[in-house]
Amino acid sequence: MPASRWQTGLNDLLQWNDEEENELLSLIMPSMLSRFQKKDSNSSESDPSQMSTSAKYPDVLPILPLRGVVVYPQTAVPLTVGQPRSIKLVDEVVGADKLVGLVAAVNPELESPGPNDLYRVGTIAIVHRLLRAPDGTLRLLVQGMDRFRLGEFVAEEPYLKATIELAAESVEEGLEIDALARNARDQFQQITQMIPSFPEELAGSITSVEDPLQTAYTIANFQRMDIKDSQEILEIDSVAEKLKKLIGLLVREAEVLQLGQKIQNEARGEIEKVQREYFLREQMKAIQKELGEKDEQAVEAEDFRKKIEEAKMPAEAEKQARHELERLSRLPSAAAEYGVIRGYLDWLVSLPWSKGTEDNLDIGHAREILDKDHYGLQDVKERILEFLAIRKLRIDRKDEAKAPSEDKIRREREGVILCFVGPPGVGKTSLGQSIARAMDRKFVRASLGGVRDEAEIRGHRRTYIGSMPGRILQALRRIESRNPVFMLDEIDKLTFDFHGDPASALLEVLDPEQNTEFRDNYLEVAYDLSQVFFITTANTLETIPGPLRDRMEIIFLSGYTESEKIAIATGYLIPRQIRENSLRENEVTFTEDSLRKIIREYTREAGVRNLERKIGAVCRKVATRIAEGKLEDAKITPAVVEEYLDHPIFQATEELNQRTSMPGVVPGLAWTPYGGDVLFVEATSMPGGKGFQVTGSIGNVMNESARAALSFVRSRAKQLGLDADFFNKADIHLHIPSGAQPKDGPSAGVTIATSLVSLISGRKVKPKTGMTGEITLRGQVLPIGGVKEKILAAHRNGLRTIILPKRNKQDIDDVPDEIKKSMKFIFAETVDDVLDSALETNHKRSSPAEKRSTPRSGSADQSARSKQAPKKKNTSRKTKANGKDTARRR
Ligand SMILES: Nc1ncnc2c1ncn2[C@@H]1O[C@H](COP(=O)(O)OP(=O)(O)OP(=O)(O)O)[C@@H](O)[C@H]1O
Ligand SMILES: [Mg+2]
Repeated sequence: MPASRWQTGLNDLLQWNDEEENELLSLIMPSMLSRFQKKDSNSSESDPSQMSTSAKYPDVLPILPLRGVVVYPQTAVPLTVGQPRSIKLVDEVVGADKLVGLVAAVNPELESPGPNDLYRVGTIAIVHRLLRAPDGTLRLLVQGMDRFRLGEFVAEEPYLKATIELAAESVEEGLEIDALARNARDQFQQITQMIPSFPEELAGSITSVEDPLQTAYTIANFQRMDIKDSQEILEIDSVAEKLKKLIGLLVREAEVLQLGQKIQNEARGEIEKVQREYFLREQMKAIQKELGEKDEQAVEAEDFRKKIEEAKMPAEAEKQARHELERLSRLPSAAAEYGVIRGYLDWLVSLPWSKGTEDNLDIGHAREILDKDHYGLQDVKERILEFLAIRKLRIDRKDEAKAPSEDKIRREREGVILCFVGPPGVGKTSLGQSIARAMDRKFVRASLGGVRDEAEIRGHRRTYIGSMPGRILQALRRIESRNPVFMLDEIDKLTFDFHGDPASALLEVLDPEQNTEFRDNYLEVAYDLSQVFFITTANTLETIPGPLRDRMEIIFLSGYTESEKIAIATGYLIPRQIRENSLRENEVTFTEDSLRKIIREYTREAGVRNLERKIGAVCRKVATRIAEGKLEDAKITPAVVEEYLDHPIFQATEELNQRTSMPGVVPGLAWTPYGGDVLFVEATSMPGGKGFQVTGSIGNVMNESARAALSFVRSRAKQLGLDADFFNKADIHLHIPSGAQPKDGPSAGVTIATSLVSLISGRKVKPKTGMTGEITLRGQVLPIGGVKEKILAAHRNGLRTIILPKRNKQDIDDVPDEIKKSMKFIFAETVDDVLDSALETNHKRSSPAEKRSTPRSGSADQSARSKQAPKKKNTSRKTKANGKDTARRR
């Protein structure tokens, strides 16, 4: 291995031989080196530098190849030598004139370079100091003297020997060379300043060198560079060129260093910032600890951990909660995600996973409470009691059941889904509350009216900003029980649009096969809804989506009769209003007549909501008078009612009599989601021909009924004793008033036909007579629905004779006895039956034909005779009717 630079620190070098420290130092420190050389030359006459080339150095020198290092003239370099041939060389040189030719090998990797592996220019050097290391290698300090060019190799064994030729550099003079030298020194100084490990003393001594050549060599000696560049600097003859080359290298090095420093600074800046924050945080923790406070985030995490344990979630939810908590504690609290996770965890831990109430299954107690809260409603109450009874038995006989359930298809159902359908104010919602009370369960309700977004039921995914669970889970969290009575009001008023179908989400909630694993979008994990007692309410079944309707047990609540209302008022509403208005029980009493007056003349409803409101209004008046000291107690009679509640709003009988006092106006019975109702069908005619229009906010079905009725009447004109020519000369307008309320349904067929016949024949409808039924084109009467509600409404509105389709006869059974007793029912098979029973025989202004025969039995002859007569009369009546009608509307 060729000689290489001994990689050692300056201090090591200095300690190498501290006795001769000064000398050594002067060897290494360049400024002193020149002095040393000068002193050297002064002290001895036989100084080699004074000699001619041949005289100064021998012609042949041992050549020591160098590896990865170039030794320059006027520099001192520590070398290490390990190869036997090199050791031999050094040994012999040290024993003789100490001179050696140092030449760098072209390829530093070569193990023992031969003559052809060396550069052609080298440096003659004196071996100054020698140290044998314990491993047998040598450490030596050489001092470069002069440059030489290799001549011939004269020996290769035991080491290389060659003839040499001194090659002095060409040293320019003048400003430029000084400037170059100064520039090189400045550049080098800059570099040393950027290398903190570079000894300051050494740097100082290097930059104080003045001689341009020595400047070039000294700097090149200390500056790290490629062996190629180092050798080039040695080989260039001109000092100016040497310096230029060196300056180029230095500038580049300075740039590299600067860039490196910049990168380092930036990296350090970043690290420092993080460290700073870390330290500050740690400090804050320490301070908080000192003050007895805890790190907020840690406290929060700890809090959640405790809550997760307390919540007793099912495995899936608990796993998710712990996972999220883990994430939470790893995030800095300022992170946006932190808030999201915290919100989510908050939901998870506060849901009632295992919290619930124990059912009170005492049937007697339940019956007591149900009766105490509501009058009547026997069917519903029975159903509730059945549910409780079965539940009680199941729990009592738990031990008897061997396997949990043999039924693989259907799991054991815990919850029940009831659907109360009925007009407003009949007690659907309050019944739900009462059930909860009877069972000792908590009660919660959510309204589905106008819910059109699936997310309202099932929540939004957590990725949305501000997302939350749906209404179901929100309500459960609020009530803090997993088994409340949960009332979903207005299930018939769900709407659908592009946001998705809330009904299908509800299906998941209500379907007992699915709701043990209800998955809210926000919560992600399953929640068991099977313990919840769901009750939905609706005014009509029609708008409830089929699949949803299918999952529920439908219980109808119909409107109340007058006497039921009186009973409810006396037993429930009045005592409640007395309480709510801070009155004493004996301070106000209602006579039955007064209640009847309120029901008949101040309310017109299937339920009792307005009745309660009016009773409340009366109670307030009484309370005011008692508070003023004007009254001690009050007995409410019909007169007092009128005084307190102002003039009656409805006068059903009067209205009925007034409206039906002319031909063409017929009361029909209708079913609406708000209970039954009485609708007046009005027909009028005007000169024209064959025109027919129907108005009054009616739907398609009713429109078609009207057309069918007209066709029937026209086709039967002759048999009905009507003027066949009438239709050619008159336009008919059919109107079904009653405000903006949309009406539809087929059950107005008979009413419309009757109205048309009444108009054309001039026969008025009999007093207090109403009707309902569908008709075919050939005059058959078809059955209809909602009989009970319709009859209740008819009774409310003062009708006493009702014409019904024959096939609805059995529906009358549902009608309360008190009503049946006070009303007359006529069952019709054909329209002719209806007309017979509904229309008065026209005595006053009837034509001879009408007088003589009923339309039904009228022969062709009679009909023909009757043709002329009614025409005139009809026209006059029509005008009159119109006039009256308009006046009334105004
Ligand atoms: N049978 C009854 N006995 C005693 N009170 C009753 C009875 N039916 C209804 N009520 C009372 O009438 C009022 C209205 O009832 P509720 O609010 O339950 O009506 P609803 O059927 O839910 O109507 P909606 O369809 O408009 O929601 C309540 O104060 C309720 O207590
Ligand atoms: Mg309600």
